[in-house]
Amino acid sequence: MEKIVIITGGSKGLGLGLANEYHKNGYRVFSIARTKLKKTYSIEQFTCDLSAPETIESTLLEIFKQLNAEQTEIITLINNAGDLGEINSLDQLNATAISYTIQVNLAAPLVLSSLFIKFTKGWAAKKKIINISSGAAVNPYGSWAMYCASKAGLDMVTKVIYKEQKSIKNGVKVVSIYPGIVDTNMQTKIRNTSKDQFKSVNRFINFFEKGELFTPEKVAEIIYNLDRSGALKKGKIIDIRKL
Ligand SMILES: NC(=O)c1ccc[n+]([C@@H]2O[C@H](COP(=O)([O-])OP(=O)(O)OC[C@H]3O[C@@H](n4cnc5c(N)ncnc54)[C@H](OP(=O)(O)O)[C@@H]3O)[C@@H](O)[C@H]2O)c1
Repeated sequence: MEKIVIITGGSKGLGLGLANEYHKNGYRVFSIARTKLKKTYSIEQFTCDLSAPETIESTLLEIFKQLNAEQTEIITLINNAGDLGEINSLDQLNATAISYTIQVNLAAPLVLSSLFIKFTKGWAAKKKIINISSGAAVNPYGSWAMYCASKAGLDMVTKVIYKEQKSIKNGVKVVSIYPGIVDTNMQTKIRNTSKDQFKSVNRFINFFEKGELFTPEKVAEIIYNLDRSGALKKGKIIDIRKL
């Protein structure tokens, strides 16, 4: 029997940490991202730009062609890929920049979750969706309008899927996770933003200088252990920093 993880953004940062952690623990891992890692024997990689909704279904279909319901013990979708978008006050942003971030952070997880639920209907395997959200879902930061809004929206997606699936026999389990401040390209981008564009930049520079960032490997291990313990269910919103 196989244990399967389909993760978006398994090419770098937290997603790569999660891909490696699940693989280490016996999972077959499929990653969906724009870029591929050159050397990896542990992740099956599919190229897809999640800002282009029309390619998402064909990518997921390609992955499901390789799977067998009867041979699957666990199947998990991790909606991890995310983009901060252009960091600036809303009046400085154009429609293309606004739509892009909402598409990657919110519309793509909605489409993927919809297809995942549809494609696994009737499977006897344990089924789960893990949405990688952010404390920005509940803390408004100036210059992050799309990021905050998309993560708040993602948490609501978690709650709605829970409501829809909870009374279905072997329905899909779902959670949102706030991973804390993780040492990835996303944090580098934040620290490199000018104070004119992002008033809270010094807060993030201080986190870095005080060594307060989690490594992607550590956060991946925490998430995997929560998953294994059975804690990831019931539409919960879990903040890693408050465990
Ligand atoms: N780092 C933090 O402190 C922090 C805090 C809270 C929440 N998070 C959340 O954690 C998740 C991972 O973030 P991270 O820090 O690891 O960021 P990251 O290092 O910037 O990685 C982002 C990942 O998303 C993928 N991605 C971005 N845009 C994409 C697109 N258009 N199509 C397909 N894939 C795309 C990237 O892959 P490609 O470039 O190969 O496409 C990459 O693998 C995000 O949802 C983020 O919001 C991070």
